[in-house]
Amino acid sequence: MDRTEELKKMAGIHAAGYVKNGMKVGLGTGSTVKYTILELGRRIREDGLKISCVPTSISTEELSIEQGISLHELASLEGLDLVIDGADEFDENLTLIKGGGGALVREKIIAQASDKMIIVADDSKKVSKLGKFPLPVEVIIFSWKETRRKISEITNIDLSRINRRMNHETDEPMITDNGNYILDLSLEEIDEPLKLESELIQLAGVLDCGLFCGIANTVVLANPEGIEIIEKRA
Ligand code: A5P
Repeated sequence: MDRTEELKKMAGIHAAGYVKNGMKVGLGTGSTVKYTILELGRRIREDGLKISCVPTSISTEELSIEQGISLHELASLEGLDLVIDGADEFDENLTLIKGGGGALVREKIIAQASDKMIIVADDSKKVSKLGKFPLPVEVIIFSWKETRRKISEITNIDLSRINRRMNHETDEPMITDNGNYILDLSLEEIDEPLKLESELIQLAGVLDCGLFCGIANTVVLANPEGIEIIEKRA
């Protein structure tokens, strides 16, 4: 296992410690939270942990079923105690870029339904300014080109820096779990994430974007020295 993978595993397993018997838990998507899901599966089998979970993607649903985790419809639980999820970048305000795995819409819905959002990350995800990681925006297929043109106007970036995400196995555009496209915006620097988020989601063809502003409470960050817990500033 390489160094980054070990850090992901450390963060993922540590975050599982926030989950207590009887909780309603949102399960995020990605290669870091995968280790949280594996650890929860182990505790269910070995320690008799009882939890009710909602997955944020079809891939997480499949992994959770393999692990024997009890899954529910979001509508049947009336809110969640916490969600544990990964991030592509986070800054000192715990504003996030998410959606590298294409699950940003369900991830934001589940995060907003949860009392607490815990992010699991290795040290490569911590940035002083958001934007190096291309910002994912989920758009309706019907109007994707027009939406891309509007996004170019709003953000002042050239159309060539707004890329429709491809599925590299099929060489076709990637389709999200919700049946839409993802546009990845190479912005380089995001000065006002909240303003950008609200401008993007005002466009009718945009379902949501990967900026999570004021939602995350805690980051469980793994670096070579160990685990660091970063809490949102009051
Ligand atoms: C999924 O859509 C994403 O938001 C992931 O949570 C994010 O890309 C982090 O994934 P990794 O833990 O695989 O880096």
